[in-house]
Amino acid sequence: MVAPLLDELLAADVVLVATPMYNFSVPAALKAWIDQVTFPRMSLAGTRFVVVSARGGTYLPGTPRAAVEHATTYLRDFFDGHFAVTDVDLVAAELVNSIVDPRLANRRGDHEASLVAAEAEIDRLVAAHAAVSA
Ligand SMILES: Cc1cc2nc3c(=O)[nH]c(=O)nc-3n(C[C@H](O)[C@H](O)[C@H](O)COP(=O)(O)O)c2cc1C
Repeated sequence: MVAPLLDELLAADVVLVATPMYNFSVPAALKAWIDQVTFPRMSLAGTRFVVVSARGGTYLPGTPRAAVEHATTYLRDFFDGHFAVTDVDLVAAELVNSIVDPRLANRRGDHEASLVAAEAEIDRLVAAHAAVSA
């Protein structure tokens, strides 16, 4: 059961994790994957990790809920603590709920700006990786 997951992870040059924020953290399915591929003294140093996420609210540094962002910060801390990976790129599109929640309608522009910025960051990461691989 676990071997194919580990083989896939160990063979990767780049690991892309795409995840929503659920209840201030990561979805149970992603946590289940993490729990399957974690072994003591396992190092993936040299593997590049990219986390692309979406979340309903805003958790940027300086905002009221910054301290409860346990999704991307958890992944960053986990990759460092268990895989010895410090090279983690975190990209987040914020305020997705402004599309569906009338109480957040006034933040729709901030969501769209966040999405544009996230897409630009992804383009930058792709170009940087292509340059390294060439
Ligand atoms: C069960 C659940 C829990 C959520 N918890 C949060 C949360 O704690 N903070 C937040 O900002 N957004 C939260 N959201 C909003 C999602 O992060 C957002 O809608 C995201 O775009 C969902 O991506 P998906 O459509 O791929 O599931 C939650 C959504 C769901 C369904």
